[in-house]
Amino acid sequence: MCGIIGIISQNDVSERLLDGLKRLEYRGYDSAGIATLAADGEIDRRRAEGKLEKLADVLATRPLAGVIGIGHTRWATHGGITKNNAHPMANDTVAVVHNGIIENFASLKEMLQQRGAVFTSDTDTEVVMHLVSMHMQEGLTPLEAVQKTLSQVRGAFALAFLFKAQPHMLIAARRGSPLVLGITESELFIGSDAIALAPWVRTLCYLEEGDVATLTLHGDNAEVSILNEDGIAVERPLRQTNITADAISKGAFTHYMLKEIFEQPLTVSDTLQSLISVEDESFHAPLLALNKPFSKIRIIACGTSYYAGLVAKYWFEKLARVHVDVEIASEFRYRSPVFDGDTLNFFITQSGETIDTLAALTLVKQQGETCVAIVNVAESSIARASDHVIQTMAGPEIGVASTKAFTAQLVVLAALCLKFAKERNAISPHEWTNFFQSIAQIPGHISELLRNDGVYHQLAAHLCQVHHTLYLGRGANFPIALEGALKLKEISYIHAEGYPAGELKHGPIALIDSKMPVIVIAPHDEWFEKTLSNVQEVLARCAQVIVFTDAKGAAAIEAQTKTMPCYRIVILPESNMLTAPLLYTISIQLLAYYTAHMKGTDVDQPRNLAKSVTVE
Ligand code: M6R
Repeated sequence: MCGIIGIISQNDVSERLLDGLKRLEYRGYDSAGIATLAADGEIDRRRAEGKLEKLADVLATRPLAGVIGIGHTRWATHGGITKNNAHPMANDTVAVVHNGIIENFASLKEMLQQRGAVFTSDTDTEVVMHLVSMHMQEGLTPLEAVQKTLSQVRGAFALAFLFKAQPHMLIAARRGSPLVLGITESELFIGSDAIALAPWVRTLCYLEEGDVATLTLHGDNAEVSILNEDGIAVERPLRQTNITADAISKGAFTHYMLKEIFEQPLTVSDTLQSLISVEDESFHAPLLALNKPFSKIRIIACGTSYYAGLVAKYWFEKLARVHVDVEIASEFRYRSPVFDGDTLNFFITQSGETIDTLAALTLVKQQGETCVAIVNVAESSIARASDHVIQTMAGPEIGVASTKAFTAQLVVLAALCLKFAKERNAISPHEWTNFFQSIAQIPGHISELLRNDGVYHQLAAHLCQVHHTLYLGRGANFPIALEGALKLKEISYIHAEGYPAGELKHGPIALIDSKMPVIVIAPHDEWFEKTLSNVQEVLARCAQVIVFTDAKGAAAIEAQTKTMPCYRIVILPESNMLTAPLLYTISIQLLAYYTAHMKGTDVDQPRNLAKSVTVE
């Protein structure tokens, strides 16, 4: 949540600060601001409530000069969505931008007010600004003042500072929230992620927990020095990035989400190829490295990534005969889970920065159990803290609603399932080969489905008029019903619930009337007959039933529902237990996307949300 950027250059930086913030806007879009050191040596800033375009308008009428500056895009935690609460917080000594939460801000604010500090915002960030300037007035250097301030604040955060008295220096500090430095021969950058800096730098340096970095540029002499949490000078590895600005452009698509949906034949195929070799039915290094024996599996994640974990539970238990627990990270970390030291733990996350998943990882690591990250952002905090990393090859996902990262996670889990099934001799060689070969065909089936997306336009025209929907599924497709409901509600604001079809009679069926669309995920699998009975039950109560199924399923449904037909049956390619969740997911994504688009919501930046949830 919240995006941070900083630049020291020999040219004006405000345009690039704004450009970098555009690529960080997925982290929050309640307000935005930038601050620079103007030619007269004063800290000058522009801020605006609302999306970045508002800040761009302000800058168009009141440009900001200066070759050093910081910027911020906000996801509000403490203090409402107002210009006054927009970052940077600044006085005549220091400007600061902040991602995260200062947990003890209330007591610090009281102490500062007693000493005469006047607060102009309701943010927790402002205490940092006052503390740093107070310590500088006491005679500390900017670096010492930042260090002393960091010793007084609690919480998880990333900070970037600009000082009036230091026209060539920025300071960046990381505790719990990510920060990366970008280094060229003549310019220095700070960003919340590599994407922000993509057009300008190839050399990156990721700060570690507790690091404080000083960036200075004198003429052409760019220098970075880093102190660790004990104040000791350290070197952090330099990494080369190949993220380009192209990889994060919308291209000809109306939204990132649509582009990302249509990228899935490629991202699924890339992820598959990184893990398995179809020709000789073997596994590649990221899976082979996982060779420690274990008695059971625990999967921990949030949101859509959690639903990927739920799908895996069905797969692993059925095909590999291994016990699996799937945990919501924010619950797990505050329960008193029992550890046996013999559990293999998977942490599934697109961003690799989700604070609850990271905290759960820390907890499990403390217990000495093996931790494996299934992560899309290779340099993320969760990737770096895990014992093993399996990267999903989805590429940068910008749309707030996760799509291609989810299917890439499913591919990793399907490949793991086959590996475990083989190692445990849990299924016959014939069955194993069938499953192995079938997942290799998935990219082609996804392309086929995407070629026929007209049907989703028609369904969306209907759905965009309703207020509630139910999604039903069974087995490994029950989590896809949950995911369908989440996708629809987060981008279209239509209330949606996902249920296991068999659970309908235990309450939710009371919601059914002629105005309630019921979306059923029903491939012709071993649960199909049971799901069909549930379809009959809702049809009998006049619901508008939309069924996603395959040709066999469609024939059976049509034969049995002649007198009370479904509102629509959508036919998908044939699938099996491993491939169905991957295919049916594409349908629920398209349905959510076109519905939201027709409603005219802000699909890529839905209200109240942010892409990476880095606060509790
Ligand atoms: O980056 P992560 O995968 O850890 O994020 C987890 C959730 O915040 C994320 O999946 C969220 O639910 C998305 N908005 C779903 O579209």
